[in-house]
Amino acid sequence: MSRRRRIYEGKAKDLFEGPEPGTLVQYFKDDTSHEHKKGVITGKGVLNNRISEYLMTRLGEMGVPTHFVRRLNMREQLVREVEIIPVEVVVRNVAAGSLSKRFGIPEGTQLPRSIIEFYYKSDELGCPMVSEEHITAFGWAGPQDLDDMLSLSLRINDYLSGLFLGTGLKLVDFKVEFGRLWDNDEMRIVLADEISPDNCRLWDIKTNEKLDKDRFRQDLGKVEEAYQEVARRLGILPEG
Ligand code: C5P
Repeated sequence: MSRRRRIYEGKAKDLFEGPEPGTLVQYFKDDTSHEHKKGVITGKGVLNNRISEYLMTRLGEMGVPTHFVRRLNMREQLVREVEIIPVEVVVRNVAAGSLSKRFGIPEGTQLPRSIIEFYYKSDELGCPMVSEEHITAFGWAGPQDLDDMLSLSLRINDYLSGLFLGTGLKLVDFKVEFGRLWDNDEMRIVLADEISPDNCRLWDIKTNEKLDKDRFRQDLGKVEEAYQEVARRLGILPEG
């Protein structure tokens, strides 16, 4: 565990002061939770650190700006310090989870086109779904920020859908977060947080086997194995 000053304690990750001003160290834990259920998935932090490093790097190469700088060790990565926009962006390609529940659409139904949803990032309020109107009216993000978040989310979806398809995985849906980053008085919206099986639904294209956090949420067992399988398919195992 880092000896740096902890500035934020999250459910799956902690943030520590970075080595230089404007940087943070993101520490990936094995802890997990869903609603009132808590658990530990042994080795998850190590795998998510690797998976998120890989996906953020690929996205960066595709021109998606991210907060990621480099992985430091098994559980830590160096990131740029950003001001997190308190809006979670969910992109869906196939019906699952809360969308299936809300509209009574069977899980696995291909959506006619990708659907983007916004949720207000507030654990106390249970992350309520919000519209663009709420986001701009309450000042969480301006219209230009929101435009950037939308177009980046669609680009992330296009790129990651193709990348996962190439490994035999279907990107059913995912959640991303964005932050504001200042470079010499210029503000940019960048992808922040992490991208991993904690915040993506990934199904095997042939069998529809779930290889993501739903294995924990739905008590399906073999959770760690699922995260390992995603890393293996991305070609990033064994740990190096
Ligand atoms: O539960 P729901 O169907 O709304 O989740 C949509 C996507 O967003 C899933 O991939 C889920 O893993 C992710 N998600 C998340 N964090 C949340 C809620 C959902 O990463 N707080």
